[in-house]
Amino acid sequence: MTRIIGIWGKGGVGKSTCASSLAYYLSRDGYRVLLLTTDFVPTISRIFRVHGKGLVNVPGNANLFIYELSPDEVIDLWKQRFGDEVYQVISSFLPIDREIIDYIAGAPGIADEFMLYVLYELYRKKKYDYIIWDLPAAGDALKLLWIEREFYTHLGEAAKMYLKLKGFLQKLKRNSSKSPLDLINEWRELADHIFTLLKSNDHRALVITTPDDLSVEVTRKIINELESFDISIDGLIVNMVWPDSSEVAKLFNERLKMQEMNLSKIKEMASKLSKDYRIIPLLNFRELGTNVLEMIGREIAPFVY
Ligand SMILES: Nc1ncnc2c1ncn2[C@@H]1O[C@H](COP(=O)(O)OP(=O)(O)OP(=O)(O)O)[C@@H](O)[C@H]1O
Ligand SMILES: [Mg+2]
Repeated sequence: MTRIIGIWGKGGVGKSTCASSLAYYLSRDGYRVLLLTTDFVPTISRIFRVHGKGLVNVPGNANLFIYELSPDEVIDLWKQRFGDEVYQVISSFLPIDREIIDYIAGAPGIADEFMLYVLYELYRKKKYDYIIWDLPAAGDALKLLWIEREFYTHLGEAAKMYLKLKGFLQKLKRNSSKSPLDLINEWRELADHIFTLLKSNDHRALVITTPDDLSVEVTRKIINELESFDISIDGLIVNMVWPDSSEVAKLFNERLKMQEMNLSKIKEMASKLSKDYRIIPLLNFRELGTNVLEMIGREIAPFVY
């Protein structure tokens, strides 16, 4: 069984750090783990000092794989999967050459929309116990869901439109390729499978926040959005919590006050969700070494076991 754990949160709160730590910890605990990032400005290869394109094994750790999906790669994958089908539909009505595939593949939203399909395919291969999904900052991450929903709705409208124009389009048809309606319905079914997976028990979300006003506000928004998509949230993680020492209090008393207030807000949010929350302190490191990965991973892992 493969489980997908999505790591959500505002920009810069520590999503990639937490995702990498969790992936590292689970892999050391004997699970086969894929750390997937759909952030187009990824950082995980730097964390694991891995070079090379595509899905790669982390040297010295047979259980851990990382995959930083680049926009170019997503577009190539889109062309492989849908290029022919799209060409078939369009060329059945219009004298057009295959360059149309590149044109459509480069359209805004295609890479975002297709990202979830890549996740779905990786899940279906059942090669990993966990797919830890390092998401981009909140707005871009939510866009992935919004675009998929829009795509689903549009395909429904496209199917209706096709039925209305069917007689006319049949007359225009130049060759006997697969029916456009069948293809539209197949694509829609695929989008439906993706939503079914996202809503299932095999997909969970962890929301990372820091104890400051803005990221707590964004956390609330993320929780609401995920709930509106019926996506289960497994827990909240408060990262970069300041030590409450007298030295810190002297210099950063305002921040400590804000932190205290926000920690109680987060506690409330977690109890509303009937879930736990965990605290990760602000740590004194420059490079994210294995000891830090292990420490943060150990803190988060109980959420996913
Ligand atoms: N607990 C921590 N203590 C100290 N520094 C931390 C901690 N967690 C993360 N950081 C640092 O904070 C910075 C941002 O972390 P990270 O890149 O994981 O955030 P992100 O949420 O993935 O950002 P983005 O939204 O840009 O993808 C990094 O420099 C990271 O090393
Ligand atoms: Mg990141």
